[in-house]
Amino acid sequence: MEAAHTLLEGQKITKTFGGLMALHEVDFAISEGEILGLIGPNGAGKTTLFNLIASTYQPASGCILFRGRDITGKKQHQICRMGIARTYQLVRPFNSISVRDNVLVGARFGRGKKSGGEDEEVVDELLDFFSLAEKGRQMAHSLTMAEMRRLEMARALATMPVLLLLDEVVSGLNPRETNETMELINRIRQRGITIFMIEHVMRAIMGLSDRVVVLHHGKKIADGAPDEISNEPRVINAYLGETGDTGMRPGPL
Ligand SMILES: Nc1ncnc2c1ncn2[C@@H]1O[C@H](COP(=O)(O)OP(=O)(O)O)[C@@H](O)[C@H]1O
Ligand SMILES: [Mg+2]
Repeated sequence: MEAAHTLLEGQKITKTFGGLMALHEVDFAISEGEILGLIGPNGAGKTTLFNLIASTYQPASGCILFRGRDITGKKQHQICRMGIARTYQLVRPFNSISVRDNVLVGARFGRGKKSGGEDEEVVDELLDFFSLAEKGRQMAHSLTMAEMRRLEMARALATMPVLLLLDEVVSGLNPRETNETMELINRIRQRGITIFMIEHVMRAIMGLSDRVVVLHHGKKIADGAPDEISNEPRVINAYLGETGDTGMRPGPL
């Protein structure tokens, strides 16, 4: 499964902020069609890794390959047009434009070379997919947190990505909203999109991921199937050190 169909690969990724080593020689690979989870205690470097993939920041050393091509140092819009889209841990829709226009911005910015009319079709389909059709004309700031997170995903999907980076899209949601979002993530994968997702809610990450990478203090400490990594002493210790409870058992949908 590995080498032949690798979509995105990081090799010895290192990132420092002043004296802080946010990531230290992290290797990872994600195969086409996979859902790869990324977990680790707060400050482990998860969002930083996404910022490097999306070229928000550049690594101090190491490189990132997309479809075998070195994309390190590309501009953010180039990364987007190559087919990598993301959501943000802190949701940031354009508040003073409508929900629909937020998604339209994604469509205009993205990968597909479409005429205006096709953009409209893409947007309508996505609003429908994310159960936002009835909210399309509202201002984005009027949405609930669950709706905003769906809007973030809709806007990201409107860019026509092949790889979607999701940063804690179920955090702050209640159990019912969490289940709905998990269902949506599965349906996004069924659209043929590869997913790399950061999540603190263990039930979600363990239930959705084919494989999970664990970061701790900027280093990768585990990489494997959910049931494998949740039994790894190093992983358990990293979480116990923080909260005293791993909460790592996968739960029912
Ligand atoms: N722009 C930045 N400037 C300085 N330090 C940062 C910046 N972004 C992240 N960090 C630091 O890098 C470490 C990893 O942060 P982050 O990647 O956000 O962790 P996680 O998403 O795993 O909680 C933290 O110590 C954080 O304070
Ligand atoms: Mg984070």
